[in-house]
Amino acid sequence: MNRYKTIESMKSYIDGARAEGKKVGFVPTMGALHPGHASLIALASESCDEVVVSVFVNPTQFNSKEDFETYPLTLQGDLNLARLAGATVVFTPTVEALYGTSLAVKPVDYGRLTSVYEGQKRKGHFDGVVAVVRKLFSAVNAHRAFFGEKDLQQLAVIRRLAQEEFADLEVIGCPLVRESDGLAMSSRNVRLSGLLRQDALALYDWLNQIKNAARGTTDVSALLAAIEAEAKSMAHVELEYVDVINAKTFDPLRKTFNTEDAFAIVAAQVGGVRLIDNCRLACS
Ligand code: PAF
Repeated sequence: MNRYKTIESMKSYIDGARAEGKKVGFVPTMGALHPGHASLIALASESCDEVVVSVFVNPTQFNSKEDFETYPLTLQGDLNLARLAGATVVFTPTVEALYGTSLAVKPVDYGRLTSVYEGQKRKGHFDGVVAVVRKLFSAVNAHRAFFGEKDLQQLAVIRRLAQEEFADLEVIGCPLVRESDGLAMSSRNVRLSGLLRQDALALYDWLNQIKNAARGTTDVSALLAAIEAEAKSMAHVELEYVDVINAKTFDPLRKTFNTEDAFAIVAAQVGGVRLIDNCRLACS
């Protein structure tokens, strides 16, 4: 597995691979890799000759200095996991290599995609995500980029970025991966101690309740209100939102759930650790 740290060295490797007719897949990450990332890398390696994994903790997408400073850094483990999962290249640029001397990013307005739910709760977050993904897409110049459906709204934002600025790039959404107890895999899970982890499972439980209800009803409003009330009674849980939406537009859905774009989404702080989760409604 090759490792590159500069845009120039990355570009020149990919230019060579493309010239040889190789298919290039790209899995952008912020490191702290877990089996969810491994599944993205493995999926990429099924259809691509070269699989580039970037490991870059992007300072412009964090909402608090503390979250950025406590983000887990596990580079050696990341390199091992990436290699075992099928990566052929890792790209580990420095902040200066990607941003130069200024961390200023342009505001992004993709309508509802950047203004509701995550866009509303994490002001400026998608500005930072779009800024860094644009830089990474330009540096890596892949045929396909793989993103987890765990970050469902980010996936929609990135599809829009690709549609507007990287027309030849195929963005592929990959299924969310769960721990054995149902908790959605996240690099932040390591910050959940014993009892908080139990509380965190409420998110998965709520999603399942919504999924079950959506099979037999066309109105989940009462259930959403009951979930909000239950969350209020939980000492360490601060619910940010729970809803049923169309994953292409992020419009709320109230009447038709039987489409492949209907998802239940939830975000909550559990003991100060921010968790998001989602589940597609129209599947087994
Ligand atoms: O999903 C992530 O890990 C990050 O938001 C991404 C897409 C790598 C951009 O920093």
